[in-house]
Parts: sequence; structure tokens; C-alpha cells
Amino acid sequence: MSPTRSSAKAPPCAAGPVEATGSAADFLPSRKTLPALRRAVQGCRGCTLYACATQAVFGEGPRKAAVMFVGEQPGDQEDRAGHPFVGPSGRLLDVAIAESDIARDDVYVTNAVKHFKWEPTPRAERRRIHKTPTRGEVMACKPWLDAEIALVQPRLIIALGATAAKALLGPAFRVSTARGKLQTLESGSMVVATVHPSAVLRAPPEERAKAERAFIRDVTTALRRIPT
Ligand code: URA
Ligand code: SF4
Repeated sequence: MSPTRSSAKAPPCAAGPVEATGSAADFLPSRKTLPALRRAVQGCRGCTLYACATQAVFGEGPRKAAVMFVGEQPGDQEDRAGHPFVGPSGRLLDVAIAESDIARDDVYVTNAVKHFKWEPTPRAERRRIHKTPTRGEVMACKPWLDAEIALVQPRLIIALGATAAKALLGPAFRVSTARGKLQTLESGSMVVATVHPSAVLRAPPEERAKAERAFIRDVTTALRRIPT
């Protein structure tokens, strides 16, 4: 059978209790290069999310990218493909980037959480329903994101949605009030947050076009303001 999306089997979730250490820090390689991190993340047991996912999905893009996009976690298609932002959210992100002067291949894209969290339901044998990661899962996974930021040293990080923004800026961060505002991380990178593209895709039909325009405007505005 050809490996099409519909024929790809959902991964089996572990039947018994799932072991996790509580932090990805236990699994980071001593030699911190992007390829070494990308290999090591597959063995991460920092939280229990690895048990139901097909694979970890690490960030991708140039090692010295000026811009890093941080999403929430891989979705259904990213989980199967092993690459970030290849599904519907990624297509909307591509549209937004295409409206700017930056080439898609020049940005680094990653997620706050590296394993797909989904809800196994009796009716959802094929369609796996995304679940928002908890603060504990986001914090357990944070060492991977911190390592990516330390290596890439992006001048600008664009946080896509509340999970990414809170991972970077703390739990009190509200996208609703701070959307579009530039802030500085301890690492020196600037961060700006906008909504997650999946929120745009889920907007009711009558609000969808407006939400899409606002998202594209946020991304293009941010990409015009990359600090030098
Ligand atoms: N949504 C995300 O947050 N990240 C992806 O990689 C895909 C969808
Ligand atoms: Fe490790 Fe993050 Fe996966 Fe949890 S989600 S197992 S911390 S890589």
C-alpha cells in the first residue's frame, strides 16, 4: 500500500503506565549541534507525550536564520511526516511569508512541544483530535527550544499562538493584549506574538477572511521589523 495520509496508521499508545523523567534536559546531547539535537530528540522521555506520537518533530531551517517561527506542537500531518508546519497551518504560514520579502527557506520553523498531543477516541481511529499541551509538558520540552534558540540566535522570534508565546514570555502573557508588541528575551532575541494559524483556519466562515488578513498582516509587519 502506498504511504498516503489516510493509510498511515495511527501510532499505538502505550498500554501501560508511561515513564517520563519530567524534563527534556535529561536527553539533550552533550554536543549541541542542530543535527545532534535532531537525533537525540527521538529518544526524549521528558514527558509522556512521546507514547502516542509517531515521532518527535524537530525544528527545521538554516542554522543562522534571522527569523524563527515557534508554533505549538506538530499536528496530525507533521506527526506522520516528521517535519514542522507541512499541514494546513503550514500552508497558511507559507502564504503569509510569501507576502514578505523573506524567502520561506530562509526562516527556521519549530514548535514549543516536539511531540503531537492528541486525544484517542473510539470514533477517531483516523482523525486524531489535537489537544493543547499542559504548562508542565511545555516546560518539560522547553530545553529543546532553548537549545534551538541558543544555536540559531535568531534576531526575531515570531510566536504563533498562546502556547508558544507563554513558553517564551511566561504564563501571564496574553496574545489578546500583547499581539504585535516587540519584547526582548534574556537571550537577546526579540519576540513578537500573533495568533496561531490554526485559530485562523477554525474561525467561523464570516470571520475567516478578516482573521486571515490580520494574521498575514502581523507576519509581514513583523518580518519588516527584523532588528539588525
Ligand atoms: N501547528 C503547529 O503549531 N505546528 C506545526 O508544526 C503544525 C501545526
Ligand atoms: Fe520530550 Fe518534548 Fe516529546 Fe515530551 S514532548 S517527550 S519533553 S520531546
